Amino acid sequence: MTVFTDRLRLEPVSAESAADLGLVVCDPEVWPWYSERCPTRADVEELATGMGESWTRHGVHKWLAYDRSSGDVIGRGGLSRTPVDDDWAQVYRFLPPDDWVSVSYDEPEPYVAHANWLELGWALRRRFWGRGYAAEIGRAGLAFAFERLAVSAVVSCTTRHNRRSRAVMERIGMRYAGEVRSRGLVEGERTERDDAPFATCVLLRDEWSV
Ligand SMILES: CC(C)(COP(=O)(O)OP(=O)(O)OC[C@H]1O[C@@H](n2cnc3c(N)ncnc32)[C@H](O)[C@@H]1OP(=O)(O)O)[C@@H](O)C(=O)NCCC(=O)NCCS
Repeated sequence: MTVFTDRLRLEPVSAESAADLGLVVCDPEVWPWYSERCPTRADVEELATGMGESWTRHGVHKWLAYDRSSGDVIGRGGLSRTPVDDDWAQVYRFLPPDDWVSVSYDEPEPYVAHANWLELGWALRRRFWGRGYAAEIGRAGLAFAFERLAVSAVVSCTTRHNRRSRAVMERIGMRYAGEVRSRGLVEGERTERDDAPFATCVLLRDEWSV
């Protein structure tokens, strides 16, 4: 499941890569976009273990991105199956009115997930922003989703005011579809709300071009 791009080696996250994952998710410019406090070591280990389990049972989850030459940990990103729940059901209106949209993946562990569309995301250690690595991870994710997993759509969501993440979505050819509401941050506030707005981009397999 290792994928190579021009500059990166993308390795599935597993329990064994918790320390490398920690370099990304505990970066002081990264974690505030995901939670109200920096993840603890136990949080990171649980996260890495969960991602590894998803790779095993769902056939996909996030990669750790390493510099192909130096081996530096650059970031984490890629795909994951979206849970079948009320939050993600808000995305149905951005997808075609077809049965495949709400079908569940055969394996119900570690969570019941959609079978035919995936979420795509990215996070880089601060020192590696501004070099195109997130877009490189994003394009690799789209290729993996449509060529290897043959899903019908990929979606990407980010807090409304996360301009850098929204720019990555546009850079890799995803199209803005609208907003959903979920627990998260609102611009200018430090504590999460249940109804924070998330910008959502979509790409259907038919719309994808390398
Ligand atoms: C979101 C995030 C991954 C975006 O990172 P980024 O560095 O802005 O995005 P990219 O890696 O695609 O880099 C794009 C920039 O690199 C520049 N660049 C430099 N060399 C480049 C190259 N060889 N190829 C492509 N772009 C290059 C681009 O011009 C662009 O510059 P700009 O931002 O001034 O327009 C990063 O800000 C981050 O980790 N944020 C914290 C976590 C987060 O918010 N994650 C998303 C939550 S949904």
